[in-house]
Amino acid sequence: MGFINLQNEIIQQIKRFGVFPQLWPEEIEKIGFFVNEILFNPFDPKFRADPYPFYDRLREQDPVHILSTGFVVLTRYADVVNVLRSNDFSRDIEKNANLPETPTCKYRRERNGTKSILNLDPPDHTRLRRLVSKSFTPSAIERLRPRIQKLVDDVLDKAQQSGQIELVDELAFPVPFQVISDLLAMPTERASELRQWSQVITATLEPTTSVEDLVAADSARDQLIPYLMEIIEDRRRTPGDDMLSSLIAVEEQGERLTNNELIAFVVLLYIAGHETTVNLIGNSVYALLKHPSQLEAVRHNSFTTNTVDELLRFDGPVQHTTRTPLVDVSFTVSGEQIKIDKGSLVLASLGAANHDASVFSNPHTLDFGRENSNRHLAFSAGIHYCLGAALAKLETEVAVGSLISRFKNIEIIGEPEWRDRLTIRGVSRLDLSVN
Ligand code: HEM
Repeated sequence: MGFINLQNEIIQQIKRFGVFPQLWPEEIEKIGFFVNEILFNPFDPKFRADPYPFYDRLREQDPVHILSTGFVVLTRYADVVNVLRSNDFSRDIEKNANLPETPTCKYRRERNGTKSILNLDPPDHTRLRRLVSKSFTPSAIERLRPRIQKLVDDVLDKAQQSGQIELVDELAFPVPFQVISDLLAMPTERASELRQWSQVITATLEPTTSVEDLVAADSARDQLIPYLMEIIEDRRRTPGDDMLSSLIAVEEQGERLTNNELIAFVVLLYIAGHETTVNLIGNSVYALLKHPSQLEAVRHNSFTTNTVDELLRFDGPVQHTTRTPLVDVSFTVSGEQIKIDKGSLVLASLGAANHDASVFSNPHTLDFGRENSNRHLAFSAGIHYCLGAALAKLETEVAVGSLISRFKNIEIIGEPEWRDRLTIRGVSRLDLSVN
């Protein structure tokens, strides 16, 4: 297919499926042109399998890429980290960004749900973060290690008997799901419904979100919330030794979590428990199997949280996040000041920042000897830095570390499948033979 035909095809697909509905159609048409050789086609399986060459081009050719709607894409490490740490940028997009009057934006603005900690700015964010952080202390997380090890060992015992494993459904999903359920002491009989609701809700983190997706997410919330409320009410009557009971009891200087704040936080934890660590485990195993020398290096040394940092840098599950400036700001590119208006929508590409050669030498090489892997931005930075980072790293260390130490031969069967997502990146299926 010729270049122009390919672009037309992409534009047709974008129009049909409503990609980037916060942009106007004429801007969408420019997306296909904004990088000369590597076209940004989110539907292209090659982009899904490896978005990093695309990010490189954008960083090299147009690191502060602005569409005339005010939508800005940042790909340099320094810009991304500055934005994430700056008090001049808000995470509350619905409140502070000048979004176009598209049906999706209108729906989002008019929806009147309680925002989770992830979508709030100070002072509300500060108050909630202080209250909920108490349940995520390093010692509380480390106490989970034996339980995580037992869950992983049970899965690997089965794999050892059959000689194969489908990594995502058998290990990467069930372990973090069971751990978050244990932490909150939630029943697991409705695991498959919970997984489905959570997938429908996280689909709305995508830039491709349509009004139908938002309606579906609200309907999933309408089922999830009464279910959680029942459990919360029960736990209020009979508190236990679990995180949900501590969250109910939490109090600081007379401040408590309201019922709605508690529900919004538990929904966020569930989603984080389902949709992020699962992808880190899947992407990490895939990356190791594609880099046999690094796999051997890790087998000889030990699999530590530093190993996990390099895996997070190399191919993290959250590819970007959004912010909006509360004042007019500017970025310097080749000595020139580029002005960004207050209220613009800024997409900070974590995946691109983690492959910026000005911070990480040979960024596309998986290198467990790298000294600064822990500077990655896969968990973001600043006040919204992932609260579950230590838990996610522990789960990955135990799951992936145990898999590679149990089996000396691990091979991919067929081709992996990638999730049909842009914000959350991960393999959706990875069949392995193990012995
Ligand atoms: C590999 C796994 C994970 C990755 C890559 C990840 C990534 C992230 C990122 C990038 C953010 C910040 C987004 C922003 O700045 O806009 C975040 C926030 C958050 N994450 Fe994670 N996460 C992971 C696992 C978890 C887990 C397991 C939990 C909890 C059980 C969790 C709980 C949270 C919470 C509560 C926030 C909001 C923090 C705040 O706004 O102050 N995450 N995560």
